[in-house]
Amino acid sequence: MLPLFHETAGRPLICPSLLSCDFARIAEEIELIKDQAEILHCDIMDGHFVPNLTFGPPVLARIRQATNLLLDVHLMVDQPEAWLEPFAKAGADSLVFHIESTVHSQRLATQIRDLGCTPGVAINPGTPLTDLTEILPFVDLVLVMSVNPGFGGQSFISQMLDKVQSLRQIGLDRGLSFHIQVDGGINKRTAAQMVKAGANLLVAGNAIFGADDPALAAAEIRQSAQSAYADTLATI
Ligand code: DX5
Ligand code: ZN
Repeated sequence: MLPLFHETAGRPLICPSLLSCDFARIAEEIELIKDQAEILHCDIMDGHFVPNLTFGPPVLARIRQATNLLLDVHLMVDQPEAWLEPFAKAGADSLVFHIESTVHSQRLATQIRDLGCTPGVAINPGTPLTDLTEILPFVDLVLVMSVNPGFGGQSFISQMLDKVQSLRQIGLDRGLSFHIQVDGGINKRTAAQMVKAGANLLVAGNAIFGADDPALAAAEIRQSAQSAYADTLATI
């Protein structure tokens, strides 16, 4: 399980995305960034929900053996219900399904919690926040996609800053506390902007594993996010 939002006091946490790592050297890549990150983001793509393929539960199980970092599993798949138990058994700490991938979101969230994982829901850039209205009380994490899912290294969609700000306000208005995770085009500049908008879990793939020095890149994103967080506290 991931810590709850209130247990972290909303402090920004860095979630390197393995999608951009060298898959032939996953354990070494994780070793490089482990001291600059809290959560490893694992992108699961099935070639149907998104036009790309990644890996399944056996690979996640080996990643679980290679690290003590929390494993955050982003399910970009059709029929996510088929994959909850296999990924939970493989060692997932969170299971995040797309609101666009199911008509039974509340059942999925409950099943994920019953499996002992943190339930999360993801939303594509073109999907309105109103689609999340009923599911929010049942999840501990909302993943706001800041690119269209499927590939690393895409450009940040800046309109998602307003979406994150609106979502944080909805949480405050309804007395709900959930992590707001952002994913896509996150670097040290956009991380700071997203933290100021209300995000606290920052996924970054290309900006970390595409850098010459992944540990330094992760440290810079962390520093930038932490100083943006300090700024938001100072203005309260
Ligand atoms: C995209 C994935 C992301 C991806 C982000 O569909 O969900 O997690 O790794 O990559 P960057 O940070 O390169 O935009
Ligand atoms: Zn992702």
